[in-house]
Amino acid sequence: MVIGDKGQVMQIRQASTADLPRIMMINRLCLPENYTYYFFDSILQSYPKTFLVAEVNGEIVGYVMCRVEHGLSKLDRLNMKRLGHIISIAVLPDHRRMGIATALLKRALEVLKEEYKCSEAFLEVRVSNHPAISLYQKLGLAIVRISKGYYIDGEDAYVMAKRL
Ligand code: ACO
Repeated sequence: MVIGDKGQVMQIRQASTADLPRIMMINRLCLPENYTYYFFDSILQSYPKTFLVAEVNGEIVGYVMCRVEHGLSKLDRLNMKRLGHIISIAVLPDHRRMGIATALLKRALEVLKEEYKCSEAFLEVRVSNHPAISLYQKLGLAIVRISKGYYIDGEDAYVMAKRL
């Protein structure tokens, strides 16, 4: 059991294959960036420890999924690093502003560092997505650059990163 920073009682646990249909439903309801079942399942099989769900009263209300990449640091130019890529996070509308995304992300960042030995975490976010940008800043991620036309509709992304 986890008590969120607003007193919300929730469970944060690793996702299982059986959870994928509900995770996909939440993803489609909350975000325009949707993925195939195969993509969700391949992330779950490869990086199960950072594919997390939040449950309230036994129902999944949010998820985060990440993968580990070896690539150029977003913060220290020209350094190759093990990077934790936060691919997608969402919380159902009725459960927002209760600290659920904060709890999911905090746990994912800890696991990326401790279990997957990443020295940096990063993500892309739409430049118009102020709630998410504010969430990430609160957790110590900083905007490091703009990725022009990153999204399929042409919107730019901020790349945000944090040392772990
Ligand atoms: N307006 C302004 N700031 C906000 C908002 C908002 N609507 N929502 C969250 N925040 C910021 C605030 O700083 C907040 O702290 P506060 O409540 O003390 O002011 C902080 O984020 C933490 O909020 P949480 O309650 O932990 O976040 P929540 O559980 O509501 O989830 C999320 C936030 C995931 C962005 C949710 O709004 C959502 O699912 N949005 C749609 C999907 C989405 O945009 N996902 C991110 C896309 S980018 C990516 O996936 C890598």
